Parts: sequence; structure tokens; C-alpha cells
Amino acid sequence: INPALDLFHEIEVLKKEKNAVVLAHYYQEPDIQDVADYIGDSLGLAQQAAKTSADMIVFAGVHFMAETAKILNPSKKVVLPDLKAGCSLADSAPAAAFKAFKEQHPGHVVISYINCTADIKAMSDIICTSSNAQKIIESVPADQPIIFAPDKNLGAYLIKKTGRDMVLWNGACMVHEIFSQQKILKLKAQHPDAKLIAHPECEEAILQYADYIGSTTQLLKFAVTDAANKFIVATETGILHQMQKDAPGKTFIPAPPDNMCACNDCPHMKLNTLEKLYLCMEYEQPEILMDEQIRLAALKPIQRMLEISK
Ligand code: 13P
Ligand code: SF4
Repeated sequence: INPALDLFHEIEVLKKEKNAVVLAHYYQEPDIQDVADYIGDSLGLAQQAAKTSADMIVFAGVHFMAETAKILNPSKKVVLPDLKAGCSLADSAPAAAFKAFKEQHPGHVVISYINCTADIKAMSDIICTSSNAQKIIESVPADQPIIFAPDKNLGAYLIKKTGRDMVLWNGACMVHEIFSQQKILKLKAQHPDAKLIAHPECEEAILQYADYIGSTTQLLKFAVTDAANKFIVATETGILHQMQKDAPGKTFIPAPPDNMCACNDCPHMKLNTLEKLYLCMEYEQPEILMDEQIRLAALKPIQRMLEISK
């Protein structure tokens, strides 16, 4: 790649040339967010992917997100800057083990968080994201037992919120599990005017002190509209870029991790770079391709989610 290339300009040219749309998650690096046509949380990105009229969806996010876009809109070419951009939650639920888990709990409705592979989606009844999970759970009759997978922290939070006793799969997000309760409490004491806002993938040890809990889009909206001027943000640091852009006068402090060596960046999300984004648009690969039978089976529970989320 020629170092003299203005990637921002080249990406705009490719968008027009190829009728491509760039969809980015809030955890992507700032440059990628700045070239995106749409930035959103998992639900917003799925909704955009389903309705786009572009010929190519350039998905600046992780694999399960690009795969969901392909499931929803199979006639489009879906490319991902780095095919290795995975997710610790999706990795925590291998298909064979999940199948056995389901068999151990017959008669349960399976609600799966969108952070899972197409194989898991194909074994699920309804998909949810952090922004609609409560609504999805409440759409299931009260006497119906539920399996919730793969995030145990989000699951535990939802059990508390809905009063439903769900069977949880033992998965977690490697980024949201590293926050230090002690350091956050210290920071709160140093900044008594700051509100703690947290993603529900965090552990209860953190969530119990949060002033507001929500998906990335919900956290951003809250931070921009709330009267407070200072926020301690317990989620991946990529979201701070949009927070600072949308509320330039406010202060956003990333919640500290437990260990000085740990970092709040998602190593999977951050595999994507502006350079890789440009290259995947230029060469139209790596492309998301999938088995049609799995796609159709995975589509059903996603469509149920989109129906309920309307
Ligand atoms: P949302 O953007 O839907 O809140 O998801 C957060 C996340 O961890 C995505 O991988
Ligand atoms: Fe997966 Fe967590 Fe990274 Fe999101 S932040 S992609 S849930 S590992």
C-alpha cells in the first residue's frame, strides 16, 4: 500500500465506485468510525444491514456481526477488514457443547445474545442484543423455562431485571470482565460529580454501582442527554470517541481495569485498521460466505428479534 495514499479519500471513492456502505461498531478505532456511513450498537447494525440497498456491506466490526449481516441480506457481498476479528463470547459457546447443553435442558426456550456464531443462532429460538434483551425475555410466557446464552453476566443482570429464573451458559466478554471494582470506587470518590455508566456485559460487582446501564448506543445517548458533565465509562474505550464528539464540553473517564497490563480495548475489534478497511473494499475480500441451510436456520431467531424490537 502506497504510504502517500489518502485513505479517507480513497475509501470515499471506493464507496461510490462499488456502491458500498461502511457499517461500523462503536468499538472500532476513531479513524474507522469517522469514515463509516453508519455507527451503531449490535441491534442498529443488524437493522441497517437488513435494509441497505448497497451492493457491498463493508462491516467494520467482528465476525459474528458481519455474519449476521450476511444472514439478513444474503444477496449482498459482505466483507470484513480482518477475518480473524472474533469475540470471546462467541468463542465460549462451541456448537457441539451447546447442543449437549440444550439436550440437558429439554423444554427450554433458547434466547441467545447476538454475540454468538451462526451455528448457535441456528439452535436458538430468539436472538437478543443488550438493547432489547429485557423486551425479548418478557415476550416469552412467564411459565416457560429459558436458557440464556452465552453471556453469564448479561444473563445474571437480566434475571435481576426481569425476575425470570433462566439457565445460563458460562460465557463472558474478556473486555468487560477486567474492570476493577476497587479502582472504580476510588475514582468515584475522587470525582463525586461523575456518573458511572456501564455495559451489562460487566460483572455485578461493577453494575451494582452504575448510575445507568445500557448498550453502547444507549450509553452514548445517556451521556449526551443527561445533565451530568462527567462520566466514568465502563465499556470498551472506542465509544469514548463518539461521546467526546457528540458532547465536546463533557468529560469522559474510562473505567480502570484490574491489572495495569490489561487494557479496555477489545483485541478483536481492534484487529481492524483503516488500511485493512481500504484493502478489503479494493479487493472485496475477505468475504463472509456461509452454508445456506445454517443461514436459513439462523435467520429465523434473528427475524423474531427484529419483529419484537420494532
Ligand atoms: P452493543 O453495541 O450491542 O452494546 O454490544 C457491545 C459489544 O460488546 C459488541 O461486541
Ligand atoms: Fe466480543 Fe467483548 Fe470484543 Fe464485544 S468487546 S467483540 S463482546 S470480546
